[in-house]
Amino acid sequence: MPALLAPPLSLYVHFPWCVRKCPYCDFNSYTLQGELQAEPYVARLARDLEAQAPEVSGRPVVSVFFGGGTPSLFSPAAIARVLDAARRCLTLAPDAEVTLEANPGAIERGAFTEYRAAGVTRVSLGAQSFAPEALAALGRIHSPDETRRAAEELHAAGLANFNLDLMYALPGQDRAAALRDVEEALALGPAHLSHYQLTLEPGTLFAAHPPPLPDEDEAAEMLDECAARLAVAGFERYEVSAWARPGRQCRHNLNYWSFGDYLGVGAGAHGKLTLPERGEIVRTVQPREPRRYLAAAPGELTRTTVPAEQLPFEFMLNALRLTAGFSMEEFTARSGLAPSRIAARLARFLTRGLIEPTPEGFRASELGLRFLNDLLADFLPESAEMSGGFALSIAPAGGARDSLRPLFTGADPPIGE
Ligand SMILES: C[S@@+](CC[C@H](N)C(=O)[O-])C[C@H]1O[C@@H](n2cnc3c(N)ncnc32)[C@H](O)[C@@H]1O
Ligand code: SF4
Repeated sequence: MPALLAPPLSLYVHFPWCVRKCPYCDFNSYTLQGELQAEPYVARLARDLEAQAPEVSGRPVVSVFFGGGTPSLFSPAAIARVLDAARRCLTLAPDAEVTLEANPGAIERGAFTEYRAAGVTRVSLGAQSFAPEALAALGRIHSPDETRRAAEELHAAGLANFNLDLMYALPGQDRAAALRDVEEALALGPAHLSHYQLTLEPGTLFAAHPPPLPDEDEAAEMLDECAARLAVAGFERYEVSAWARPGRQCRHNLNYWSFGDYLGVGAGAHGKLTLPERGEIVRTVQPREPRRYLAAAPGELTRTTVPAEQLPFEFMLNALRLTAGFSMEEFTARSGLAPSRIAARLARFLTRGLIEPTPEGFRASELGLRFLNDLLADFLPESAEMSGGFALSIAPAGGARDSLRPLFTGADPPIGE
């Protein structure tokens, strides 16, 4: 058996409340009822960090992601307290990337300067669209001008390293409107752009009462046109839904997609830890509902060892989303499996043009990216294929998470940018 090596470690912190639940969203988020009780939640997060810290003792934390829900509902002082707790309990790398998700409709004027002083180095802003009618159809709580103002404030606060979340294939949207949204986003000078096709997620209001959406061909054309525009603007696509200026990729999400490790704290947060001394990869899940999370004892989380036969799928689910793909060394070090476990399948996909070689290893070809679901399904262990439910158990937490959406409707939504 090749040696399992501990990969880089990240930290994901979940904040489950929003001003209002959006009708398309199946993230673990809840409309805030009454005043936000920040203090008990922050105290619980700190206890959670203490409880999980011994397992990762001495390992540097390369990135932190405050995701939601709407973390920007929490004051800069509250975020500073969580970061202090992380510094106390863990070994935070001096140059750690620290991202805060913010909703343009739930951010106090001038707050970005304070978030930066608290230790935030990067912000992810939920713009979604710049068309007032689209924002209304999406049930968003902000106007395009509020997004523009938030972006201006980010630049003024010295947080030019920010992401804008955009969605396309929106109710009633045509190609020109989708492209206009990208233009408007570019005009705000972001360093990163996440561009998601709107999907109807089971259990949401939109799934129960679907709005009229562009068909798949139209959506594919929107994506192609927007991608071309982003390339002209100097953005590189480094993942299925993620574009960045050179050197501005999200390190946190890259760690998920490279099958790295992450601690998950907060209601419903997922974690993944490699334990080389035990030859195991473990997944953790926190109690999902905020009330249950608050009432649970720190360290009271669900732990599951990932069976070896699931590992090729789990690795590929992440690595094949990256335009750079993966190397065999990375596969063996991060899964603890021999290359022979995937060699036959890779050879078959190479022949069919779904995978192509890179100087370091392999990546999904353009054709492969279009049929990524089918490609991934081939890496499923037989038992999961039969139950048809494998994706339900493996959605990672944090940033990467929402990027699984186009692939796996019905999956527990990944948490993060
Ligand atoms: C946790 S939310 C972002 C932060 C913040 N809560 C906000 O909405 O402004 C993550 C992102 O996932 C995307 N997203 C959520 N639901 C989606 C869906 N059904 N289809 C496509 N993208 C979705 C949105 O772009 C959203 O900004
Ligand atoms: S999209 Fe963002 S603001 Fe809307 S409900 Fe989901 S997490 Fe909350």
